[in-house]
Amino acid sequence: MDSNKITVRVPGTSANCGPGFDCLGLAATIYNDLEMTLLEEEQLIIEAKGDGADTIPTDDKNIVWKSARMILERSGNGDRFKGGILRMENHIPMSRGLGSSAAAIVAGLVAANELVDKPFNRQELLKFATEIEGHPDNVAPAIFGGFTVSVVDKGQVQTFAFLPKIRLKLIVAVPDFPLSTRMARQVLPKSVPMKDAVFNIGRASMLVAALINGKERFLANAFDDALHQPYRTKLVPGMQEVFSAAKKAGALGVCLSGAGPCLIAFSAVDKHIENNIAVEMMQAFKKNNVQAGALILDLDTKGAYVLRG
Ligand code: HSE
Repeated sequence: MDSNKITVRVPGTSANCGPGFDCLGLAATIYNDLEMTLLEEEQLIIEAKGDGADTIPTDDKNIVWKSARMILERSGNGDRFKGGILRMENHIPMSRGLGSSAAAIVAGLVAANELVDKPFNRQELLKFATEIEGHPDNVAPAIFGGFTVSVVDKGQVQTFAFLPKIRLKLIVAVPDFPLSTRMARQVLPKSVPMKDAVFNIGRASMLVAALINGKERFLANAFDDALHQPYRTKLVPGMQEVFSAAKKAGALGVCLSGAGPCLIAFSAVDKHIENNIAVEMMQAFKKNNVQAGALILDLDTKGAYVLRG
């Protein structure tokens, strides 16, 4: 086995979970795999298969390679390894609000860190990933798995990762158009009314309390939001109708996945209800002239890990 080669697997993620803008996140059972080989010579080969493969930069602007470089430089290995071979197999839809960029960053950091004998622990990788991504709500669950609550203070990131006591299915409606996070952040106001802040504090707290204690009945309004979704409605045609359709079909809650355009519904484990929610969400999108597919996923419980090597 080549000791300079490793394969890591990183889950897709859904940020915000409704009221937890830039703070809450979860990892889901959809994955990108990255095989990385570090080279002493200055040569870079990047190959990608799967979702968005033909749009991925294959030069040193590639985000996976940039993230790997961060590890090499900060661990003093920048001169030792000047190049690399990266092979990616991507299943996480790109630019849809399922954390494809966070997965790329975390894959680059974790793979490079393993290949130089793990100078950094997961907490340090989280800090680096947040520096690159700008906010921790996708990168934290991509690293730790489960649900995560993250707080940034003076450049330090603190993440509490937990597995809920309720088993939830995640039903994701995936529209056929991309939405850049940058554009979805541009539509947000600089300040928000106090009543909207209070609305979200209550719901975000209720969501975490209900999940940790396994109290399904307290989830009824816990995925609702007043801080970002109302402003983003115009970017995702039919969003409110899809929310209503999911709830009518039995969803415990539903929200925008990250910055969108995916919408994510939460349901108890019941094949009939899960499928029904998926169908109703796709149909509601269709009524608004949006073609959407659906993914029925579980919560990923372990985050990024070494698959081979
Ligand atoms: N919290 C971020 C947002 C997630 O909603 O803009 C997107 O990466």
